[in-house]
Amino acid sequence: MIYITRKEHFNAAHKLYNTNWSEEKNLAVFGPCANANWHGHNFDLYVTVKGKPDPETGFVMNYKDLSKLVRDSIIERVDHKNLNLDVDFLQGKLPSCETLIYEFWQLLAPVIPRVAPNCQLHALKLFETHNNYAEYFGE
Ligand code: NI
Repeated sequence: MIYITRKEHFNAAHKLYNTNWSEEKNLAVFGPCANANWHGHNFDLYVTVKGKPDPETGFVMNYKDLSKLVRDSIIERVDHKNLNLDVDFLQGKLPSCETLIYEFWQLLAPVIPRVAPNCQLHALKLFETHNNYAEYFGE
């Protein structure tokens, strides 16, 4: 089994705010991410798929196909968007890195084998800042 990874990038705004809590508690827990008038992040998404290389191409999956899938399924729906307001699959959810990566998995995992039948999604890694990232393996 070989694992290959494609990196994609998007910019988006969000706010982390629990409406059941006081302003003070939101600021204490979420810090600058609770800012009332939004803020942005430069997100890097690493998508790892696994499979056996095709003997005719030597590829587990063509990086070009993987990039297009990730862009069509995820990036175009979140890039330059307000994650709280603009994105249908995030409605009513706190758009933390953890929430994003879970929802991205639901969108992407089913479409990988349709394009590359010998391939499966293995891992997503989402960087919200240089220092903070979340990983998900579908479990
Ligand atoms: Ni934030």
